[in-house]
Formats: sequence, structure tokens, C-alpha cells
Amino acid sequence: MASQHLASSGGACDEYAHTAQFYDLLYQQGAPRDIPFYLELAARQAGPVLELGCGTGRVTLPLAQAGHTVTGLDLSPAMLAQCQAKLAVAESAVRQRVKLVQGSMSSFTLEQRFALVLAPYRAFQHLLTVEEQQVCLGRIRAHLADGGVYLHNVFNPSLAYIMDHVRRGKVWECDLEAADPASERYLRRSHMLEYDLATQVLRVDWKFEEYNHAGVLLSTTLETMHLRWQYRFEAEHLLSLCGFEILETYGGYDRQPLTDLAGELIYLCR
Ligand SMILES: C[S@@+](CC[C@H](N)C(=O)[O-])C[C@H]1O[C@@H](n2cnc3c(N)ncnc32)[C@H](O)[C@@H]1O
Repeated sequence: MASQHLASSGGACDEYAHTAQFYDLLYQQGAPRDIPFYLELAARQAGPVLELGCGTGRVTLPLAQAGHTVTGLDLSPAMLAQCQAKLAVAESAVRQRVKLVQGSMSSFTLEQRFALVLAPYRAFQHLLTVEEQQVCLGRIRAHLADGGVYLHNVFNPSLAYIMDHVRRGKVWECDLEAADPASERYLRRSHMLEYDLATQVLRVDWKFEEYNHAGVLLSTTLETMHLRWQYRFEAEHLLSLCGFEILETYGGYDRQPLTDLAGELIYLCR
């Protein structure tokens, strides 16, 4: 596996520095069931894949195991280290198909063009300004091969859900629990949400609590991340302004239609 280091954007900090160690255990349950969707897309495109915000390789590894060549780019050294550790014990053919790059999706330059560019599990929402979003989409365009496509995925903001949280104020809510068979520890994740309606930036405070088998709290880890939400027509206008033509639109990874109740905004663009 090759590893490359690029300058990261605008001094952005790693909002996954602590989350990384818990990510795979928790997201075995909590992640969207999007892998079949990406495998099908990659099979259709037949060419190298660029995954922006590849994280721990939750999507990268299944793609490489299915025979695709994948470049995974991520801002977080901690998330990349998790991915690298999994690659280290993967089959050598799989390892050779993956290249990891540390850098920002809003400032990358790679010496390759791709048949498919992805940013799974809403990684694009880590770009908090329209300027960064536009630069990122420009970078994606510059890295698409002839016939290449970009899959845009952000969450579909529910006004009812947002307003419910705004009214209730900031409270901790437990959203995931998992037992780690390796360490015999029990992990509990809680979140506290703060929606800034003026900037469309959601602040998420995470709390990770580790317990031993007797239920004694061993450690508490806190981390904060920020996500900018996009409304449907904002996303569509942005993609169009940045030179993309939307080929397919979905509200979820089973290719369900995009309705107001859909969980995701998914656009396949060229
Ligand atoms: C929700 S995680 C998704 C990880 C992986 N794609 C998955 O589906 O499990 C978002 C990822 O985006 C990365 N990220 C955040 N801002 C980024 C940026 N500006 N450039 C590249 N990666 C970024 C984070 O470090 C994190 O690994």
C-alpha cells in the first residue's frame, strides 16, 4: 500500500481524532446499509475509484475485496491509521489495490483520473462553507475520467426533527451500545445536538463511555464535530452550478424515491 501526504485545507482540525478508535465497533450497527449500493455502482463504472473521506475503510475495503482499485483520501490521520491497520492484515491482492492519501477533499491534487468518485456516509457535510464545497466539487470534476461519475450523498434534513431538537435544547441521548469481544468491554455512545439554523451547521458532541464486564465505568471520551446540512434544491443547484448533470436521484441506498421523509439525498452526477 502506498501512502502519500498532502497539505490539509485551511488548518481544519481532525474531528475524528478520538472517535476513530470506536468507529468500527459502533458502526457495525450504526452505519447505513450502503455497501451493496456502492459495489453495484463500482461494477457499473468499471474503473478506478476515488473515495473522499474514506475513514476506517468501511466502504474502501469491500470495494477492494470486490476487485476495484481504490484511492482513499481522508483528513484524519487517526481514521486512516485504523484503515491502514485493517489493510495490513488483508490479502496482499486487496492491499495492492488500495492507496491511502491524507489530505482534504477541498484541496487535493492526485496524478490520476477516476471512473467513480464517492464521499460515502455524508462525508461532504464536513465542508462548512459554500466556498469549500465549490472548490471540492471543482476538484472532483478535475479528477473524473471521460465517462466518470460522482456520487453525492448528504442527509435529507427533516425540519420536524430539527425543530424538535431546537425546542428540547441540548441534552445527552444514548444512541448506540456495543460489546467489544476483543477487550470484553462495553461501549456506550451518546450525542448532544445543536442546530444553528442561520448557518445550517449542526454541532454534534459525542460521548463515548467504556465499561468493564461488571458495569464499572472505565473511561469517558468526548469529541465534537460539525456538519453543514443542505436542502434538496440547494444541493441540486450547487451541483449544477459546479458543472454537474444529475443522472439519478434517490432518497436512500435501496434506490427509493426522494420524498420529504427520505433519510438521504443521493445524486449520481456526471
Ligand atoms: C462519517 S465519516 C465517513 C467515513 C467512511 N466514508 C464511511 O462511510 O464509514 C466522514 C469522514 O470524512 C473525513 N473528513 C472530514 N472532513 C474531511 C475533509 N475536509 N477532507 C477529507 N476527509 C474529511 C473524516 O475524517 C471521516 O473519516
